[in-house]
Amino acid sequence: MAREFSTVGVVGLGTMGAGIAEVLARSGLSVVGAEVDEAAVARGRGHIEHSTARAVGKGKLGDSDRARLLGRIRYTTALSDLAGADLVIEAVPESLELKADVFAQLDKITGPETVLASNTSSLSVTEIGVHTSRPGKVVGMHFFNPAPVQKLIEVVRTVVTEPDVVDDVMDFVARLGKTPVVIGDRAGFIANALLFGYLNHAVRMYEQRYVTRADLDAAMRFGCGYPMGPLALLDLIGLDTAYQILDTMYHQSRNRLHAPAPLLKQMITAGLLGRKSGRGFYTYDAPGSPTVV
Ligand code: 3HC
Repeated sequence: MAREFSTVGVVGLGTMGAGIAEVLARSGLSVVGAEVDEAAVARGRGHIEHSTARAVGKGKLGDSDRARLLGRIRYTTALSDLAGADLVIEAVPESLELKADVFAQLDKITGPETVLASNTSSLSVTEIGVHTSRPGKVVGMHFFNPAPVQKLIEVVRTVVTEPDVVDDVMDFVARLGKTPVVIGDRAGFIANALLFGYLNHAVRMYEQRYVTRADLDAAMRFGCGYPMGPLALLDLIGLDTAYQILDTMYHQSRNRLHAPAPLLKQMITAGLLGRKSGRGFYTYDAPGSPTVV
């Protein structure tokens, strides 16, 4: 019988972590969300309050359901508060050093049966897991942005992940109302390995001035039926995140398709990170707003 995960910890409440906490709480689970300091907790809580208020505004969620959902999430700045979790999902920035440190701490804090999952988008789950005494209970759980909307979760198994752990996580993902797919520990897993070559190619086409941003995005939306064009999607993902993913994949595969387009680096240096900073390839009225100026 599949194992129940009733209390779930989320470490890191940025765009992805906050979205993940919302998904879990929406499914009736008790969630403990951890961040580094009170300001980061406030930002994470703000993401979740904003997203759920939007759902109420659209008539997708009742006021009392929203209150119950929010009541299921407890916030903390102390990782030790995750001691009672059955499953912990880590969603801190894409740095192996940082993730290794979080996993080493979680290994000491949580019980030996607790499953430790990483939402890493491009790092090796195997390399993260070896910083614990239980690499057999370490998996990847890769969510997609926006986490409350996108149905896919890639479940990443390493060569030492216990088969029961993979089965339990697959069942858990299905109970969240999401679609699980399972993949071995390869750079970019399935979706990013295919998606990021395309996104990078779009930046190169734009930087070489073949096409305007609007026409480039319109081609993929109206010609190929994508929900958004590649430059708008990069703004949603965050240019810094996209750069890190490309850079990691490039260093692992040496495939030139993934060598980050120079324009990406220039835009990041100039603070143009996409929706989260108010400006990327497009300018947004307010962070998160899709209005193009
Ligand atoms: N949080 C919660 N709900 C959101 C949301 C958010 N941030 N953004 C949109 N939604 C909901 C809306 O409330 C709406 O719900 P409803 O249909 O129940 O009313 C629904 O999503 C559609 O939203 P909108 O009508 O505002 O806008 P669109 O129809 O243009 O959809 C989109 C927006 C969902 C972002 C859509 O354009 C889309 O799916 N884009 C592609 C996103 C994508 O490819 N994501 C994967 C990126 S790669 C990745 O994440 C991997 C990582 O490793 C980088």
